[in-house]
Amino acid sequence: MNVFKGILFTFMAVVSAYQKQDDLSYPETIKRLAPPATINIGGTVPEKEIAETFAPGQKVYQKYCSVCHGYGVAGAPKMGDKESWTERYKKGWQTLMNHALNGYKGMPARGHCVKCSDKEIREAIAYIFTQSNVEQNE
Ligand code: HEC
Repeated sequence: MNVFKGILFTFMAVVSAYQKQDDLSYPETIKRLAPPATINIGGTVPEKEIAETFAPGQKVYQKYCSVCHGYGVAGAPKMGDKESWTERYKKGWQTLMNHALNGYKGMPARGHCVKCSDKEIREAIAYIFTQSNVEQNE
């Protein structure tokens, strides 16, 4: 019985650690993606460097999200539109992640990328935010 409890406890600890991983906020996501020297979300990082640093999010963005967010299709906030994305950011990271994963009005669940992990979606959002110069503490 104790062994069973031990296994159950370990399992729950692993699950909660995993969930915490995917609950990472925007600043936390940026920190993990970017080597400390390149954290500078004020727009002064050379574009090439950002592209390399945020390569994981960029790939998913280009393949799936840009279809709508590149041009602002159907009221989608446009890539690079700092004001629109800052407004969205103010809703809170959890809400945004929830909407991106499960869908919200014109926003399809996972932006139609069914095989994307939560982590990949999170990185894609972080990529959009950095490219749109959303300040981490706004
Ligand atoms: C079919 C078009 C479409 C695709 C593809 C798409 N989006 Fe969206 N997205 C939208 C629209 C439209 C909205 C605005 C919804 C609203 O507020 O009315 C939106 C809103 C959002 C929001 C803000 C949600 C909120 O609560 O304000 C995030 C974050 C987001 N998209 C991320 C993504 C990511 C990441 C991808 C790619 C993996 C993606 N989107 C792909 C159409 C799209």
